[in-house]
Amino acid sequence: MTENKSPIIIGSDHAAFPLKEKLKQFIVEKGIEIQDAGTDGESSVDYSDFGIKVAMAVSKGEYKRGILLCGTGLGMSMVANRFPHVRAALCSDLFSAKMSREHNDSNILVLGGRIVGEALAIELVKAWLETPFEGGRHQQRLDKFDTIR
Ligand code: RB5
Repeated sequence: MTENKSPIIIGSDHAAFPLKEKLKQFIVEKGIEIQDAGTDGESSVDYSDFGIKVAMAVSKGEYKRGILLCGTGLGMSMVANRFPHVRAALCSDLFSAKMSREHNDSNILVLGGRIVGEALAIELVKAWLETPFEGGRHQQRLDKFDTIR
């Protein structure tokens, strides 16, 4: 199967800024275009501002997929999942990252920069990027909630 090369929008707060920079490098090296929605340093910011930017872009279909990072990933996943058509998956293990694609067609991967180290984060992103959605019965299940506002 050919790998999905659709562009990605990424955003983080200060707590996960260094991880965002590492992941951007990894994603670019994979030949995937990446749009950085910020933040641009380690000064304290509100994660919600960046979560909204990324989730809105995915919700509107401007980007098919996105990545959000904060300290725990909790705040970003709460923000992102408020937007229609956004299926944000907070993952810190490889099985969940893969299953979030196979069964849930997750379109935003959320990671906690204070939870996962750089090496695991890269493996999580790799698995998430490379795993296709299975469709079928899983699509039927998504259809039941995907447009709830
Ligand atoms: C920032 O200190 C922290 O609250 C934020 O990165 C995130 O973990 C929120 O859920």
